[in-house]
Amino acid sequence: MLWKDKYELGVPVVDNQHKELFRRVEAFMQTLRSSVSWEEKVQHVNETLEFMKGYVVDHFRDEERYQQGIGYPGYEAHKQIHTNMVNYVLQVSAEYERRGFDEQLMQQFAGKLLAWLINHVAAEDQRIADYAQEKGVAGREC
Ligand SMILES: [Fe+2]
Ligand SMILES: [Fe+2]
Repeated sequence: MLWKDKYELGVPVVDNQHKELFRRVEAFMQTLRSSVSWEEKVQHVNETLEFMKGYVVDHFRDEERYQQGIGYPGYEAHKQIHTNMVNYVLQVSAEYERRGFDEQLMQQFAGKLLAWLINHVAAEDQRIADYAQEKGVAGREC
């Protein structure tokens, strides 16, 4: 698993969401790289897109609420990064609906999701925890 405990923010709701995101995106990547049937891949693409459009939006909302709760100064910029990611997912989803299953498009999508997730959680999200620590508000729930 690519998840590392050092990615934890110390906010259980958010940390559990991050773990689930890692788990789902990695499983998606593995399915695409495996030799399972085309039908199975398509099924996993459908599931992953639905998951990303629902769970990710919920996660962003919870994490943004937490940032507001602790008065995180990078809130607006962080929210914009989240919005851009949601737009990217919607864009891929629309393209998928138009073109159907395209192995290359989905490999790209999975690769970008995984890279984005690791970078975002390890860097941007970590800054929220650093701020909470500095301000002495760590341990607060979202
Ligand atoms: Fe996050
Ligand atoms: Fe975030």
